[in-house]
Amino acid sequence: MTGRQRIAVIAGDGIGTEVMPEGVRVLRAAADVFGLSLEFTEFDFASAEYYERHGDMLPEDWFETLSAFDAIYFGAVGWPDRVPDHISLWGSLLKFRRGFDQYVNLRPCRLMPGIPSPLAGREPGDIDFYVVRENTEGEYSSVGGIMFEGTDREVVLQETVMSRTGVDRILDFAFELADRRPARHLTSATKSNGISITMPWWDSRVREAGRRFPEVRLDQYHIDILTANFVLHPDRFDVVVASNLFGDILSDLGPACTGTIGVAPSANINPSREFPSLFEPVHGSAPDIAGRGIANPIGQIWSGAMMLEHLGHEDAAAAVVSAIEAVLAKGARRSPLTPDIGGTGTTAELGAAIAEELGASA
Ligand code: NAI
Ligand code: MG
Repeated sequence: MTGRQRIAVIAGDGIGTEVMPEGVRVLRAAADVFGLSLEFTEFDFASAEYYERHGDMLPEDWFETLSAFDAIYFGAVGWPDRVPDHISLWGSLLKFRRGFDQYVNLRPCRLMPGIPSPLAGREPGDIDFYVVRENTEGEYSSVGGIMFEGTDREVVLQETVMSRTGVDRILDFAFELADRRPARHLTSATKSNGISITMPWWDSRVREAGRRFPEVRLDQYHIDILTANFVLHPDRFDVVVASNLFGDILSDLGPACTGTIGVAPSANINPSREFPSLFEPVHGSAPDIAGRGIANPIGQIWSGAMMLEHLGHEDAAAAVVSAIEAVLAKGARRSPLTPDIGGTGTTAELGAAIAEELGASA
């Protein structure tokens, strides 16, 4: 159907090594059903074990090596007892995000069947939106400094940096995503009443981009009331676009409104496709439960669905999400759900159930 697509598989640390095989299992099942040609290549770097053997998180040629792939399927990195978190994260994942100019951080916030929302009275269908976060500039800049440190005159500055290139490209991505969805609704996170230079400018770039997408209904909220509305009226949102800082907050709050961290997926995307994009669960390596075979593999599997979509296989992606939903909907009595979602199943049993569902429903 399409040519062969190459996927770099990096499981990382802790439960990353337990949920990754389930992600690959379900992707292989999807490839079977939909006739896709996916080739998986596993790498052992970006892990504490690799660091202990080599004194670095990555091999020197990581950039050339990974550039040859169509996508990176990532587990989780971090094992604080063995490698300090700033070394493991900055030495691997953050290098990928920067080196491959993955300027979109994308997180679906969707309430799944059988997973209780912490928001009272909400059911599947009520919460189904995306947060699109700018991932390279904005408030997280290295422009600034401290003067007269340690004295009464101490002064500290850190500048927000927004470029027309950087803002326009994230807005284009968000508008295009909204334009493909039935609701065709985009919300911009702003704070132009308080941050009086960059944010009114952000708003003007949003209006300008909006002219190119006349079919998309556009609105904006100040970030403070927007967070309140995520909790009070999550049904109002379809696609939400935000600067780096606001997006950081919203992309944790959104998935939190839909229940457990174990099921939430994310994507770090280079939309120009000059470089591979990276797909990973929201959760980390969870050393507290690692090695017991009880980690929830759904965040990893759902990230795989996002990867399929990015690779142009919308039908296969939708089928994986449907299989996840079907297995969850059967509940803990009929599906081997993991303990974090109220069952007694193992990581492998839940992964197998989703793969089987995918095959059966096709
Ligand atoms: P974490 O997400 O690993 O764990 C937080 C809590 O959620 C733990 O109690 C854990 O048991 C539970 N949990 C997480 N995923 C689960 C799953 N799939 N199934 C069931 N329960 C699950 O966050 P934490 O503990 O703050 O960080 C642990 C390590 O992971 C650190 O080294 C941290 O730097 C790293 N980390 C890496 C990330 C990445 O690779 N993108 C993201 C977040 C943290
Ligand atoms: Mg965060």
